Amino acid sequence: MKAVVIEEYGGKEVLKEKEVSRPKAGKNQVVVKEYATSINPIDWKLREGYLKQMVDWEFPIILGWDVAGIVAEVGEGVTDFKVGDEVFARPETTRFGTYAEYTLVDAPLLARKPKEISFEEAASIPLAGLTAWQALFDYAKLKAGEKILIQAGAGGVGSLAVQFAKNAGAYVIATASAGNHQLVKELGADEIIEYKTTDFADVLTDIDVVFDTVGGEVQQKSVKVLKAETGRLVSIVGVDEKAEVMAKEKKVNIMDAWLKPNGKQLTEIGDLLAAGKVKAVIGETFPMSEKGVYAAHSLSETHHAVGKIVLTVSN
Ligand SMILES: NC(=O)c1ccc[n+]([C@@H]2O[C@H](COP(=O)([O-])OP(=O)(O)OC[C@H]3O[C@@H](n4cnc5c(N)ncnc54)[C@H](OP(=O)(O)O)[C@@H]3O)[C@@H](O)[C@H]2O)c1
Repeated sequence: MKAVVIEEYGGKEVLKEKEVSRPKAGKNQVVVKEYATSINPIDWKLREGYLKQMVDWEFPIILGWDVAGIVAEVGEGVTDFKVGDEVFARPETTRFGTYAEYTLVDAPLLARKPKEISFEEAASIPLAGLTAWQALFDYAKLKAGEKILIQAGAGGVGSLAVQFAKNAGAYVIATASAGNHQLVKELGADEIIEYKTTDFADVLTDIDVVFDTVGGEVQQKSVKVLKAETGRLVSIVGVDEKAEVMAKEKKVNIMDAWLKPNGKQLTEIGDLLAAGKVKAVIGETFPMSEKGVYAAHSLSETHHAVGKIVLTVSN
C-alpha cells in the first residue's frame, strides 16, 4: 500500500511516499481502508525529532493519528464492527500512523462515522475533538453557567472546544485574530478577543476555566484571569514553571492534559455531529501524497491554520 513515511528526523523534505506492507488485523483489531486523515501539530513536531524523548521509535515512521474510512478486515474477538462499516478513530500512538491507504485500529478506539458527515469531516475530529473533550470535561470539569476562556478559538482544537463548551451551557470567551472572529462567533463564542491588539489579561477577570492551547506567557496571564481558589486551568502544551508558581499562590488548579484515545467519547462527539450541534471546521484539504503532506505540514507549522487541515486518500 502507499504511505507517506519518514526514515529520519528533519524538515519537510524527509517526508517520502513509499510502498509499505498493508497491516493485518490482530486480536481485537480492525484494518481500516482510509478515505481521509488529518494533520495535527504533533505530526510535524515528531517529524522534527522534538518528541524523541517521549517516543523513541525505529524508522520508518508513518505519521498521522486520525482516520476516517471503511472497515476492510476484522481480527479475532471483534464483535461490534464488520467489514464495510464506516468508522472514524484516533488510533493508538504507534509508528504505524495514518498517512497511509490502510491503518490498524484497536476496536475499542473506533466509533461509527455519522452518516450525516463526510469522511473528510470525520477525519478532522478524533485527535483534536478528544483533546478538547477530555480537557474541558475530564480535567476541568466544566459546568453549565461557568465562564471559560479558550485560547486560539479558531485552531484545530480550539474550534471544537468552543462548540463543546457552548453546547454544555458555558459562557464562552475565545481569543482569535481579527480575520477569524466571524468564524469563532458562528461556532458559538459569546465574546471574542483580538489577541494581537488586546491583552486578555487587561479585560478579563474571575474566569472559572481557562483552556490553554498556546502556553508560555499566554499561560501565565491565563492564571491571572482565573477566579481565585475555584478557578481551573487546563493546558495541552505543558505546564509552564512560572505559571505553576502563580497558580499555587492564587490557590487555583493548573493541569497538564494529554489525550487518551477513546472510542466511547468519540461516539458521543459523533452524536453531536450527527445532530448538527457541532460542526467540523476544515480550513484546507490536500491529497495524501508526498507533495500534499509537504504542503499540509507547511501550513500547520505557521501556527495560523484555520480549523483543521485534512488529507484525502484516493481510492
Ligand atoms: N496534549 C495533547 O494531548 C495535545 C493534543 C492536541 C494538540 N496539542 C497541542 O496543542 C496545540 C494546539 O493544537 P491545534 O491543533 O489547535 O493547533 P493549530 O490548529 O495549529 O492552532 C492554530 C491556531 O492558533 C492560533 N494562535 C496562534 N498563536 C496564538 C496566540 N498567541 N493566541 C491565541 N491564538 C493563537 C491561530 O489563530 P489566528 O490564526 O487567529 O492567529 C490559529 O487559529 C499544539 O501545540 C498541539 O501540539 C496537544
